[in-house]
Amino acid sequence: MRVVTSIPNLSTRLDSLPRPLGLVPTMGALHDGHLALVKRARRENQTVVATIFVNPTQFGSQEDLSKYPRDRERDLDMLREHGVDVVFAPGADEMYPPGFDTWVDVGVLGDRLEGVHRPGHFRGVATVVAKLFSLVRPDRAYFGQKDGQQLAVIRRLVRDLNLGLEIVAVPTVRDPDGLAKSSRNAYLTSSQRQAAPVVYRALCRAESLWSSGVRDAERLRAEMKAVLETEPLVESIDYTSVADVESMDELDQVQLSGKAMVLVAVRFGSTRLIDNVILE
Ligand code: PAJ
Repeated sequence: MRVVTSIPNLSTRLDSLPRPLGLVPTMGALHDGHLALVKRARRENQTVVATIFVNPTQFGSQEDLSKYPRDRERDLDMLREHGVDVVFAPGADEMYPPGFDTWVDVGVLGDRLEGVHRPGHFRGVATVVAKLFSLVRPDRAYFGQKDGQQLAVIRRLVRDLNLGLEIVAVPTVRDPDGLAKSSRNAYLTSSQRQAAPVVYRALCRAESLWSSGVRDAERLRAEMKAVLETEPLVESIDYTSVADVESMDELDQVQLSGKAMVLVAVRFGSTRLIDNVILE
């Protein structure tokens, strides 16, 4: 496995590698969720490139950029073990040299839900992902369903800018108690960690109501909220949502299988958790 930190070295390295090439973009602090993406990419491609870059432009000024978990050696060991060919791990100056000032504006899709609570977040995500696509030129790129709105934003980016690669969505990896794996779970105190599966329970409640025939989205949002409110350690609920999987439009009714996602975002103290389930 080659680890490269500079753009010129990356280009040289990639020229000689067999295709198809699968890309797995990450911010490091790797866990089983990330590894599910790597494994899938490994199965489906001749070459697998992973990136580790804690992208400053997707963090708000009040957010956790400086304390975002970083453990480069452990991350590299995990990627090596899973057969990754090249890791691109640039510094911030390599990706955003002085004078950098061109952005990918993702429109209303990026202003909804997470965008309300993290203004500018998806602009930063779309910009860095577009840069990674253009640097690595993958045939396929792998993203987790865990970040459902991010996936919608990236699919739209590829469609609107005719980037011509395939986006592969990988199902959310969870702990046995249902909590979705996330680098941010490390910030939870032990009592918060015990309480955190309430997030998935809320989503499952909506899913089981939908499966039993409830089509009214407002009812599903209210039921998810009611489940979350049973947990005193949930300090605030940023949203409970029933949204179209592509446009992220808030829905009134959910008729067809696979067309809607239920989503929640909550805070346990200063730790914010998001999760979603597709109704199908
Ligand atoms: P990061 O949070 O490191 O996540 C990298 C990828 O892993 C994303 O596609 C995310 O959806 C996926 N992932 C995280 N937890 C997962 C889980 N429990 N199950 C399945 N997949 C999971 O998302 C980002 O980084 C950044 O925004 C990035 C796309 C790299 C751009 O900077």
